Amino acid sequence: MQPRAAALHKDFLLICCIPPCLRVSVSLCLGVEFSLCKNKSMQQAGQRVVDAHTRIRSSVLQTPIEEMPELAPDKSVRLLFKMENLQETGSFKLRGATNKILSLTPQQAADGVIAASNGNHGLGVAAAARRTGIRAEVYVSSHVSSSKAKRIEERGATLRQVGSNPLDAELAARAAAQQSGKVFISPYNDIDVMAGQGTIAVELLQQIPHLDSVFVAVGGGGLIGGMGAYLKWASPQTEVVGCWPENSPVLYESIRAGRILNVPEQPTISESTAGWLEQDSVTLEVCTKVIDRSVLVSEEEILAAMRRVRDLRGWMIEGAAGVALAAFLKYASDYSGKTVAVIICGGNVSKEVLSRL
Ligand SMILES: Cc1ncc(COP(=O)(O)O)c(C=O)c1O
Repeated sequence: MQPRAAALHKDFLLICCIPPCLRVSVSLCLGVEFSLCKNKSMQQAGQRVVDAHTRIRSSVLQTPIEEMPELAPDKSVRLLFKMENLQETGSFKLRGATNKILSLTPQQAADGVIAASNGNHGLGVAAAARRTGIRAEVYVSSHVSSSKAKRIEERGATLRQVGSNPLDAELAARAAAQQSGKVFISPYNDIDVMAGQGTIAVELLQQIPHLDSVFVAVGGGGLIGGMGAYLKWASPQTEVVGCWPENSPVLYESIRAGRILNVPEQPTISESTAGWLEQDSVTLEVCTKVIDRSVLVSEEEILAAMRRVRDLRGWMIEGAAGVALAAFLKYASDYSGKTVAVIICGGNVSKEVLSRL
């Protein structure tokens, strides 16, 4: 446990021994923030990320950090990329899937799992299931790229195509799981999946002990929710920046409204972050608490960011990673003198997207 987290934990335990009606005044007398009580769920979320890190660290790659001075607006900005595109499946999604699968009971593992995903989560579940020798069925919508579908099947998972929106596939998968009694692994609406994604933040603070800001692409909110839960606990001064395509700001609008709003979407090059959310998503509350700044970027800005990385380094990053980088580039002048990380969340570029680069 990090020192700051240990101190918070001690204060939290102390306050919890006090009757609820006296907690405000007693905690003020003790000089302890009352918000600790209100944030019990956040502390638990942070602890879950620490536990997930212990559970999965030998099963996933500790991805490297790359310095990107060429993209920083001036020499005072230290710009770093966290290269999750180098995970075996080409994205961070292996982390959440691995954490969920390693948390199953022996009976649940024997029954096999069901997942729904437009690609990266399906790949993560298929890879994690194969490693542990369990069966996986992956539901995808018709928007899944042919290459991702093929790679999921190559990892031994059974692919089922349903509907035209990722939410259709997700609802069908949940229904199948309910009928069969198998565990459903949501791409974002699951505390174990979110905790697994959050392990990026544990590595990040080990690799960059003083981090001012981190830019993260947001879809269902599992990635930023898990990372943010850990960062708010272990490094509260780190600014967590949520990044969305203007064409698909579903969780952004939901956070503003205080409830899940499935707003109309336009097609986006950030395919992996697109799609509607389940009404009860656990990510809404966490994301509302952990996101300090929100940035929306246009399709042109996303493409420009992807092209710059390709031209400078020859790397193909996918649209979602382009969203996070484009968001930084849009407001780069705000970060003079700061150390900033951009999460390169994936490198799985479909043929369709490749043809637009
Ligand atoms: C590469 C990539 N980046 C970002 C995201 C967004 O993650 P989340 O849905 O947890 O917000 C996804 C989701 O599938 C993804 O595949």
